[in-house]
Amino acid sequence: MQKITVITAYDFNTARALEESGVDYILVGDSLAMVALGYADTKRVSLGEMLICTRAVHRGAPKTPIITDMPLQAVSKSINDSLKAAEQIIKAGANFVKIENAEKETLKLITKLVAQGIPVFGHIGYTPQRFDKPIVVKDQEKLLKDTQALEYAGVSGIFLEMIPSQISNLITQSISVPTIGIGVGAGTSGQVLVGDDLLGRYNLVNPKFLRRYANQYSESVSAFRNFIQDVRSGEFPADGESY
Ligand code: KIV
Ligand code: NA
Repeated sequence: MQKITVITAYDFNTARALEESGVDYILVGDSLAMVALGYADTKRVSLGEMLICTRAVHRGAPKTPIITDMPLQAVSKSINDSLKAAEQIIKAGANFVKIENAEKETLKLITKLVAQGIPVFGHIGYTPQRFDKPIVVKDQEKLLKDTQALEYAGVSGIFLEMIPSQISNLITQSISVPTIGIGVGAGTSGQVLVGDDLLGRYNLVNPKFLRRYANQYSESVSAFRNFIQDVRSGEFPADGESY
């Protein structure tokens, strides 16, 4: 079967480019906390900020399925508040929400959302909302148990982040919903990367699993420098560039 592709986006133009590229899903990840807003970690991002970005992405990619992360601030509340947050995310244009970890409270929430007709993706392995820095999660027994619990709770698929490829292969073979991997090898049903990472626009981290397909950060710096130089030298604007 053809592999599933997922790329994150937080803004209108990136979403437009993604829709034109034919990607299967756009993820409005809470990585936007660091990548788009400059916070130190994903824990800081608010539901309001996730909604603004979800709406922008939906306007740019109205035909591509959108998955939006439930931010920590929306899942650390009562189950009813979390449900309301998920409803707002769907109303903003997402087709799915994604929720980290498979703890008891999380499974309860996922079961409730699915019962209310809100499709959910799970996310296990390295889950940034619960960790301070990236680590490879190797507890095979717990990971297998968590995936099965998530499948039973009714998820549409499971994101696997930074677990050994041998465990990720086992998980993919043992469940019937698709797995989307990041840093877990080629055996998953699909792959996800942060759009700004693969474009070389966010260059503050350099994990081993990241392949860069462009160098947009340095291209931006040189384009800005060229403009500055042209203005200072009188090269811009030329006659034809004025009314
Ligand atoms: O927030 C995000 O971008 C994510 C992906 C890295 C899976 O959760
Ligand atoms: Na995330």
